[in-house]
Order: sequence, then C-alpha cells, then structure tokens
Amino acid sequence: MSDILVHTEAGVCTLTFNRPDKKNSITAAMYGTLADAIEAAASDPAVRCVVFQGNEATFSAGNDIGDFLNNPPASEDSPVFRFLRAVAQFPKPLLAAVCGPAVGIGTTLLFHCDLVYAGDNAAFSMPFVNLGLCPEAASSLLVPQMLGYHRAAEALLLGEPFMAEAALEVGLVNRVLPPMEAAGYAQAVARKLAAKPLSALMETKRLMKKGQIQQVMSTIAEEGASFGRMLREPAAREAFGAFMARRKPDFSQL
Ligand code: COA
Repeated sequence: MSDILVHTEAGVCTLTFNRPDKKNSITAAMYGTLADAIEAAASDPAVRCVVFQGNEATFSAGNDIGDFLNNPPASEDSPVFRFLRAVAQFPKPLLAAVCGPAVGIGTTLLFHCDLVYAGDNAAFSMPFVNLGLCPEAASSLLVPQMLGYHRAAEALLLGEPFMAEAALEVGLVNRVLPPMEAAGYAQAVARKLAAKPLSALMETKRLMKKGQIQQVMSTIAEEGASFGRMLREPAAREAFGAFMARRKPDFSQL
C-alpha cells in the first residue's frame, strides 16, 4: 500500500495520508506524490475539488523528522516546497477531514483549505519553535490573520496545541463531528461542490484569494529559505535528535 492514496470518483479527488504506523508523518517521497497529484488535479477537468484526509485517529504528525534530518530540502524545487506552492495556488476547492493530531504541516495546510471538517479528537499544533525552526506554508502570515496576534503567538511561539472546539471558534474549521463521521461529511460536501459549475467555483475562489496570493507566495518563499537554513543549525539538530532518542531536548547552550 502506498503512503499516499490518490482516488478520484465523481469529480472528487481524495488524497489520504496512509502511513498510520508513523502517525502519517510525511517524507520527501510523499510530498512528491502529493505535489504531483495536486498539480494534475488542477488541470484535470474530471477533478472538481480535492479532499485531504488521514484516518479517524490521526491526520498527520507533520514532516517525517528522520527524513528531514537526513535529507533536508536542498532547493526551492524540493518536493515539500513544490507541494506548498501547489496547495497555495490550487484553483479549485480544497477540503480537509481532520481527526487526531494535526502537527506542523498537518495544521498549516488547513489555512489553504476552503472547507475543514474536524473530528472532536482533532488536536492542532505548530511546534516549529520547539523544533528550532520557524513557520512554513505562509503560516507566519495566515495564522495571526485568522487567530489574532496574541493567540497566534501562543500557537507559534509557545507551540501550544489547540483542540477542535477552539479551531471552530477562530474559524479554522467549519464543523466539529464525531471522528467516525468527519471523512464522510467532508465527502458529502465535496460531492455537493462537484455538482456545481466548476467555472463559477474557480472564479469565486480566485476573487476571494486574489488580494493576498502574491503575499502568500512570497511569504512561503521567505519562510522556506529560513526553514531550510534552520534545519541544518544546532537547535533543530538537537530537537530532532532528542525526538528520535525519545529524550527531552536541551537548548540551554543554544
Ligand atoms: N516523524 C517521524 N516519525 C514520527 C513522527 C514524525 N513527525 N511522528 C510520529 N512518528 C513515529 C514515532 O517515532 C513512532 O515510531 P516507532 O513506533 O517506530 O517508535 C510512531 O510514529 C508512533 O509515534 P508516537 O510518538 O509513539 O505516537 P503518540 O500517539 O504517542 O504521539 C504524536 C503522536 C503525533 C503526538 C507524536 O508522535 C509527535 O509529537 N510526533 C512529532 C510531531 C512533530 O514534531 N512533527 C514535526 C512537525 S515540523
């Protein structure tokens, strides 16, 4: 079984994180598969919207830490950056069904989705600072915008998780459901969208996003340059090494 499942039916392309033994953490190879699928979905007339999902217990634990440690993204063409650009510019509706942990990109991805449905067990976190890193996916721009500056500081400086109800309150998710129902609900909404005129959906999304798309793209590039540099620096090395060794990181000298 592939770590990313790509399935298109009735105009809905569903991308499933399928690496449950590693909490659906995402390797460079998985980012490559996702980027290819999203780029293809953008131009395929048979696809009218895309849904991201994990399973009822886990959305995604974010970047695969071992993979990032061993193969940090080397350039702007790295799979992770290709994926982020494809998501940010995706012209058709993007949906997500989120249950369980949504760490790092598992949360920042959602700021690019048009509709998000969460299981009541969803836990969102962006622990970049705790990993010696900085925000990615334009989250330094989009999180303060949606949460307000001080709640964004809790989420991004302290790296504190927040749960489904809090995400509903700030508008990051549209609806909270029992975990067993989240994916089915997202699929039902996706089918509803797929029955609408695609040109009207795309133009409406373009108009809603147009005021900010350039800033989003330039923020992704600026964050990406810092993130790539910081991955190679001592703080990230200490944090990642500690995670792999299941010990607490020691930043006292950094
Ligand atoms: N990268 C690589 N492996 C990961 C991973 C990640 N981001 N997240 C989890 N895993 C692996 C664990 O190493 C473990 O592997 P093992 O069984 O071979 O030892 C397995 O997935 C299960 O993880 P575990 O931590 O035991 O599960 P949990 O239910 O106790 O906790 C999380 C789940 C998601 C809260 C926890 O795994 C976590 O915090 N992961 C790291 C998240 C993170 O910092 N991501 C990077 C964002 S940039």
